[in-house]
Amino acid sequence: MGRAGFVAGNWKMHGSLARNQELLEAVVSGTRSLQNVSCAVCVPYPYIVQAQSVLEGSHVAWGGQNVSQYHHGAYTGEVSADMLTDLGCRYVIVGHSERRILFGEENRVVAEKFRAAQECSITPILCVGETLAQRESGEAEQVIATQLDVVIDLAGIETLRHSVIAYEPVWAIGTGKTATPQQAQDVHEFIRSRIAVHNSKIAGDIQILYGGSVKADNARELFAMPDIDGGLIGGASLVAAEFISICLAAQN
Ligand code: 13P
Repeated sequence: MGRAGFVAGNWKMHGSLARNQELLEAVVSGTRSLQNVSCAVCVPYPYIVQAQSVLEGSHVAWGGQNVSQYHHGAYTGEVSADMLTDLGCRYVIVGHSERRILFGEENRVVAEKFRAAQECSITPILCVGETLAQRESGEAEQVIATQLDVVIDLAGIETLRHSVIAYEPVWAIGTGKTATPQQAQDVHEFIRSRIAVHNSKIAGDIQILYGGSVKADNARELFAMPDIDGGLIGGASLVAAEFISICLAAQN
């Protein structure tokens, strides 16, 4: 549909210097021939320097999995967008459901993190998605609409020109239970229509990724849907061959 594909790995809290080195090198060499697809890995903070040293000059970008809403100051344990910029990060994940649910990040904080990344010219990958209970009670669209609206209200619709959205139904994350291509497509289309209310050009251009138990063997049918532009990959991004196959599946 004119949009290039994009596949990002979210390593979550996994890795070691030795394992990362092997994985990063394998991903660089396995994705060298990719056409019209970008790929990135979002690694734990301590390994960003390692990712930079292996990936610099390659076609694979790197990023963080979280960022502070503040730029500097007395915020023990936090990492700012300015610091991620310093380490060459092109992307940062904001509002992952694990941050929202396990660490109490509300929509407002997610929006502030989104804005902080934008202010440092880092492309935020904004995660949205409903829980199983919300889906079963028919609230999925309302939940996702609110997650988006709070960001648009705080950061402004124009900031979506330089951002990526990831639809990650909470019930599909790490469960092996993938949304069907049609279920995912319906939500992606809804997200695009919600953005189109503000700006139809941005709605048409923005990359919307699907995340939740994407594997080499289900990626192709998901990415074949018209509004699914790629994936945000958890577990399968830790296995080079799986991640490379998923990147290849995003070529159109
Ligand atoms: P899994 O691919 O392990 O289900 O994780 C998805 C995810 O949370 C990516 O951000």
